[in-house]
Amino acid sequence: MRKWMALLLALALGGLAAHAEADPTLYLSDFSTGTDGWYARSMGQAVVSVEDGALRIEGWTNDWNSPGRDFDLIPGGRYDFSVQVRQNQADAASFMVSVAHTVDGAESYENLAFAEAKRGEWTELSGTYVAGDFSRFVLYVETTGAPALDFDIRDFRLAAPDGLPDPASWPEPMAIEAVEDLPSLKALYADAFDIGTCAGGFMAMQDEPMAFVESQFNILTPENELKPDAVLDVGMSLVAAMEDETAVAVRFNAAEPILNYARDHGLKVHGHVLVWHNQTPDVFFREGYRSGAPLVSREVMLARLENYIRQIMEYMEEHYPGLIVSWDVVNEAIDDSTGELRDSMWLKVVGEDYLARAFEFARKYAPEGTLLYYNDYNTAYLNKQNGIVKLLEALIAEGNIDGYGFQMHHAVAQPSLAQITASVERIARLGLRLRVSELDITVDDNSEDSFTRQAQLYGDIMRLLLAHADQFEAVQFWGLTDNMSWRASQYPLLFDAHRNPKPAFWAVADAAAER
Ligand code: XIL
Repeated sequence: MRKWMALLLALALGGLAAHAEADPTLYLSDFSTGTDGWYARSMGQAVVSVEDGALRIEGWTNDWNSPGRDFDLIPGGRYDFSVQVRQNQADAASFMVSVAHTVDGAESYENLAFAEAKRGEWTELSGTYVAGDFSRFVLYVETTGAPALDFDIRDFRLAAPDGLPDPASWPEPMAIEAVEDLPSLKALYADAFDIGTCAGGFMAMQDEPMAFVESQFNILTPENELKPDAVLDVGMSLVAAMEDETAVAVRFNAAEPILNYARDHGLKVHGHVLVWHNQTPDVFFREGYRSGAPLVSREVMLARLENYIRQIMEYMEEHYPGLIVSWDVVNEAIDDSTGELRDSMWLKVVGEDYLARAFEFARKYAPEGTLLYYNDYNTAYLNKQNGIVKLLEALIAEGNIDGYGFQMHHAVAQPSLAQITASVERIARLGLRLRVSELDITVDDNSEDSFTRQAQLYGDIMRLLLAHADQFEAVQFWGLTDNMSWRASQYPLLFDAHRNPKPAFWAVADAAAER
């Protein structure tokens, strides 16, 4: 578990402002010289060959007789992929990208992306895949419902926009302080509110860092694993939609490791997120779940939304009863500059009441007592804040919202403590339950001076939140160590890459201890 942390640290120290600035491409097919490791997944006659930079498969007997290739995916890693397909034998044919994965000798499959390719036209399929806990991964391109069709693929690209975990390279923990000597934040804040962090899938597969997480925190938010791009099973939804456009299929293989850990170790979980404009497959909004297809009607989309939320709640009730204490029902619906509803597929397809309906469905299917939150960032800035307050008032009038989540992705330079205080006090007056869902504070460099100012602001914010402890359910940091943060280059968290506590940790601990 050592190498990937070092890699991410090296990336951060290299002055990269964000993950996105490094070229995240891991693999791009090159069919100019040969099959590049691709082969026909076939027990029949299917064969692959290359011509003009494309790979051709011919001689089908079954539609899973497809061109595939083994990839060394790392469990927990989030991968983006894209590929182009072309066929010349039908007016149109349906294609999908799938993964065959193996654990303990058993192979299982997931369909990841879909598109309909018209005769002779290169057509792109793309999507995201969070690798589950498997030992072998074969990515492949197959037809659905059209066996015996020859086709070409080209430009298969695999990328890891977040960077990659390497389970073999966790850093030496705690070079300075022994874990036992550290005060535990969850104990220090036990009488005030829950204290938590987000945690990613790969970390949940490692006992050692999770034991450290558990020593400090009592509530977890899966960082990406319960977002629509991880939960919506596009392949199975497409198949189901052939019978019923309102059908939705869901899957939880990405979330299971973290949910299992939390359940087995008595941690609470905050669910994130049911409805969002980001990390949501575009085909969710399209007829037949096919890319490029027309948008579905408002009625179909509302039925899909209800089915989606219902099945998530049912799955959790069946497998993890009582584990998820609260949900972000809708995330980031307000536009930063106008304070109006953000332009999004939800707004476009359903209309302005998509939030009210999402809360209605969440209330209908969530177990009694589950707290339902609206979650957003930049609450401290007035335009946005006005929009958030207006939205919350409307949702309160509808009667299905319990709380507001302040993301608080801040920087040392701004917003000011005065702005943060004013926003907390204003939202608190609405009478909702509150949480800080995603706290991190960036600095420009890792100098002592920057870390001192960062610690000061962390301490000030915690004192402010403690003063409102009767309304705050939880305060959750958005990550454990600086190098694992989504804003890794700006050192925003309480622990450094070696898991040593930074001044910010002591400031957060002292704010509770000094009461
Ligand atoms: C971020 C994750 O931390 C990243 O790993 C991912 O690449 C993008 O999303 N607001 C939210 C969170 O509600 O879901 C986002 O998390 C950060 C901003």
